[in-house]
Amino acid sequence: MALPDSFIQELLSKNDIESVASSYVAFKRRGRNLVGLCPFHGEKTASFNLYPETNSFYCFGCGAGGDVITFIKRIENLDYIDAVKFLADRSGVKMPEQTHENDQISRLRLRILEANREAARIFHAALYRPEGKVALDYYHSRGYTDATIKHFGLGFAPAEWDYLLKALRQKGFKDDELIAAFLAARGRNGGTYDVFRNRVMIPIIDIRGNVVGFGGRVLDDSKPKYINTESTLAFSKSRNLFALNFAKNAGRELNLCEGYMDVIAMHQAGFTNTVAALGTSFPEEQMQLIARYADRINLIFDADGAGQKATRRAIDNLRKTGLDVRVVTIPNGKDPDEFIKNNGAAAFKLLLDRAANAVEHRLLELGKNHNLQTSEGKLAYYHEAAKLLAVLDSPVERDLYAGRLSEILSVSKEAILQEIDSVRQKKQRQEIKQQLPNLIRQEKREMQSVNPDAVKFERAAAAEESLLGTLILHPDYIRQVRATLPAEQMMTEFNRGLYQRLLDRDRQGLLVELAFLAADYDEAGMAYIARMVRDVGDRIVNPEEVARCAAVIREEYALRHMNDPSSASDEDIQAMMEALRKRKQ
Ligand code: UTP
Ligand code: MN
Repeated sequence: MALPDSFIQELLSKNDIESVASSYVAFKRRGRNLVGLCPFHGEKTASFNLYPETNSFYCFGCGAGGDVITFIKRIENLDYIDAVKFLADRSGVKMPEQTHENDQISRLRLRILEANREAARIFHAALYRPEGKVALDYYHSRGYTDATIKHFGLGFAPAEWDYLLKALRQKGFKDDELIAAFLAARGRNGGTYDVFRNRVMIPIIDIRGNVVGFGGRVLDDSKPKYINTESTLAFSKSRNLFALNFAKNAGRELNLCEGYMDVIAMHQAGFTNTVAALGTSFPEEQMQLIARYADRINLIFDADGAGQKATRRAIDNLRKTGLDVRVVTIPNGKDPDEFIKNNGAAAFKLLLDRAANAVEHRLLELGKNHNLQTSEGKLAYYHEAAKLLAVLDSPVERDLYAGRLSEILSVSKEAILQEIDSVRQKKQRQEIKQQLPNLIRQEKREMQSVNPDAVKFERAAAAEESLLGTLILHPDYIRQVRATLPAEQMMTEFNRGLYQRLLDRDRQGLLVELAFLAADYDEAGMAYIARMVRDVGDRIVNPEEVARCAAVIREEYALRHMNDPSSASDEDIQAMMEALRKRKQ
């Protein structure tokens, strides 16, 4: 994705990281840098660092790092080009004309959106034709009104192999476009056919109002129950929530249900602040999305085993984002759709109001495992509950639930609070011991996935990264290094690629700076590079140090290529001897 340097340069000059990040994070100045609470993971002590001099950020807690564009990508949930647009909009910089290649991708993306919109119209219209009567009856039998059907744009894909294809071809869409949109698929014999057949169709609409995909449900009990749009240029499951387009305007409280049908029933009953995850997993990105639109979230999951497990996982993850998490338990294992149908909206409102928050929920769950009529049962519950409450960092909350527990157990609140305190102290000691290696391990693991060679060639990688960090911070050294170190001598693939990029940019007279790399690397890659830059940080850099790094790399290279001494030059052999000598020491 090539945007002209002059444009990126202007963009960067008008969007320094300090002013951009300051609208998301409250910073304190620390020397030349700024620190604050990391917006990418829940934390209580500030480990998120801004380096205004290098226009970069790095979090020591979670390893997130990069330049200002990467920052916006992550915090606004955008891809590279949208992040650039975001910054351009923010600062009134005009986007350049698109290049040919970009043009084709964004053109296809637009065509997918157009095809989706047309498809939604066709599916909806089908409901009111003879072939769609079954589906309309189906919706009605579930209690959905015509107003609801219209509001959600619900529809029907008739039981034919090319119902949609025929209609969209007539409107000028190419088969390839429809395949890219996940509306059509190609068969083994090369023919194209409709993906969605004989299914009621639920359009998924993003927050900008684009139809980005569909969920298609069978009308009976056959399998698979749903077919959903998989990722396309216009759609990613993990970056969307069903019905967020409606719910985002309904206040800072969201209800999260399991299924499309639940959401539709909830909206119809007046709970328009309801969304569903698309599929059952709960990726980090979706959590962040929720946190952007809500302060409080009510989890409404099935009371069956799978539902409870999902609830537990969602609670833990959502709590980390700082949301007020409540759990709504529906009696008799019904889903909201059924409950509302049987008991009405007012009854559901009562459930919502009573929604136990996450702690209370677990406290009650825990109570079910013990026989509170016996003193053994009470004692066991007392200890386990204290452990549970010890997790709470807010003294007010601890006090609140200690109070609840004291009622349940008829034990004094003070005694409970004391027990909680001693658990907390023990835990804190353990945590400090445990956390450090974990963080280090996690960072290591992430880095391994970016540059797996670094484990194999530790010494070389260390020198490479020290050198590359230096070159990004002080590009004036590139000339010196280029003369003595050909790119192919870098041992690790990632670093070799980065080095080659720096050399190329320098040769073409282009600026070398962290932000110019954001187009070529994903978030993990940028974090890896940001760490190199951070590690060089305040070290004083001199030509000797630069030369030393280059020498180490050459030595390591020579060592690995010793197998073929016949082709080695005198210099190579010398480097080889030097490396061997150092190894022995
Ligand atoms: P449910 O089975 O609870 O579906 O799955 P539902 O939407 O409530 O449908 P009804 O009420 O039984 O008619 C919950 C969600 O899990 C996803 C869908 O997003 C669904 O809404 N799911 C389920 C699939 O993606 N594929 C499946 O085969 C089943
Ligand atoms: Mn259901």
